[in-house]
Amino acid sequence: MFINFRRIRKCQCVQLLTTGLVLCVLMVCWEDLDHHVVSHVRSCAYRYLVNRYDFLNRSLIISSNRRNRKDGPITVGGGARSYPYIINHPGKCIGGPGDQDDVLLLLFVKSSPENFERRQAIRNTWGNESFAWSELGVDVRLLFAMGVYPDVSQRSQVQDALRQEDQAYRDLIQQNFLDTFHNLTVKLIMQFHWKQKYCPQARFLMTADDDIFVHMPNLVKYLQYLLRSQSGANDLWVGHIHKGAPPVRRKNSKYYVPYDLYPWPSYPDYTSGAGYVVSGDVASKIYQATLVLNSSLYIDDVFMGMCAKAMGLSPQEHVYFSGEGKAPYHSCIYDRMITSHGHAADVHSLWREAIHSTASGNSRGFLGNVYCTAVRVMILCRPYFQNTYSCAAAFT
Ligand SMILES: *[C@@H]1O[C@H](CO)[C@@H](O)[C@H](O)[C@H]1NC(C)=O
Ligand SMILES: *[C@@H]1O[C@H](CO)[C@@H](O)[C@H](O)[C@H]1NC(C)=O
Ligand SMILES: *[C@@H]1O[C@H](CO)[C@@H](O)[C@H](O)[C@H]1NC(C)=O
Ligand SMILES: *[C@@H]1O[C@H](CO)[C@@H](O)[C@H](O)[C@H]1NC(C)=O
Repeated sequence: MFINFRRIRKCQCVQLLTTGLVLCVLMVCWEDLDHHVVSHVRSCAYRYLVNRYDFLNRSLIISSNRRNRKDGPITVGGGARSYPYIINHPGKCIGGPGDQDDVLLLLFVKSSPENFERRQAIRNTWGNESFAWSELGVDVRLLFAMGVYPDVSQRSQVQDALRQEDQAYRDLIQQNFLDTFHNLTVKLIMQFHWKQKYCPQARFLMTADDDIFVHMPNLVKYLQYLLRSQSGANDLWVGHIHKGAPPVRRKNSKYYVPYDLYPWPSYPDYTSGAGYVVSGDVASKIYQATLVLNSSLYIDDVFMGMCAKAMGLSPQEHVYFSGEGKAPYHSCIYDRMITSHGHAADVHSLWREAIHSTASGNSRGFLGNVYCTAVRVMILCRPYFQNTYSCAAAFT
């Protein structure tokens, strides 16, 4: 009896201790757990069970009396000002090689003043307008979008270099805001406003980071296919989709968003800002949304998703648009890819290969296709290995 009693006490003691320990671990690790698990579960539950984002319309639309009256100064949503241009090319979409009404793609690259080398690499490779015209037979117009160099002490030096660069290439647009991470939404608004004002006729708009690689021949082929398809160049917003992504609440993260900026558990679906394409009609709807939505959310691709949601638009997934990641290198993948993120010096070699495989018609025959599917399955469908392209991409 006595022994039994002691045993029970011992068991309870162990139970109590374990519970205490688990609670302690939970408390210590809560932030990580919340960040990695709970917030995602909550957000996905919201996305798939509730899937209502009408709070965007209710909470973020700036009422017209808080917006400017007709005779007031022109400002853009969220109280964010529309900044004046320092460098601009209003005539970029006029004239040029083709008929000006036939601009297929207005290509914005989000750059920063100091990234001279990246811009040069893009001009010499996938951003080459003459190549698109002479080899692919389409009119592509390339512009680099930026603000001003944030460091005051070197600003005038950097600005002089920019002016020289622009005299040589005439492909920069710059507004008078600080080019910082937290001003990316300002840069986004600049692009959509520029298109609306100076290039409304372009069939498609692409916005891309300056450290991605775009397989221009594949992209053009895809866009031409869309033009021939039933819906034509309408109602298109395509890229790598983030579905049911939760706002990051860890203060030390680059993507931290405080509750008072965005109190809800989940962002509307959005395409990764690394690179996505919209058709002209979608671009003009986004433009409309930027006029009325509060633009204080500084993550530009999320803000784009909010604008789209408020206009009733939803994104389309394309398996060969990359998110954050770099495409695993293999010619079987490379043949199909549209964008890949995180490139610098290697864009030259990637581009040479793109030109080469396009010139050789990249047809592999039946066995070649079987071989490539097998290779893609092996590279993209490995378990526990997060690729920038999903396993589904192996079978397209
Ligand atoms: C917001 O309002 C627009 C029209 O005013 C509507 O098309 C859209 O679906 C609404 N968005 C949401 C999320 O309710
Ligand atoms: C936009 O939202 C922010 C943060 O929620 C708020 O501080 C600001 O006043 C809002 N701006 C307008 C014009 O409503
Ligand atoms: C751009 O493409 C054209 C046409 O293919 C080519 O002649 C030219 O050398 C290319 N420019 C650069 C900087 O590579
Ligand atoms: C954005 O640019 C404006 C205008 O230059 C500047 O006042 C503001 O501080 C910048 N915001 C951030 C977060 O850098």
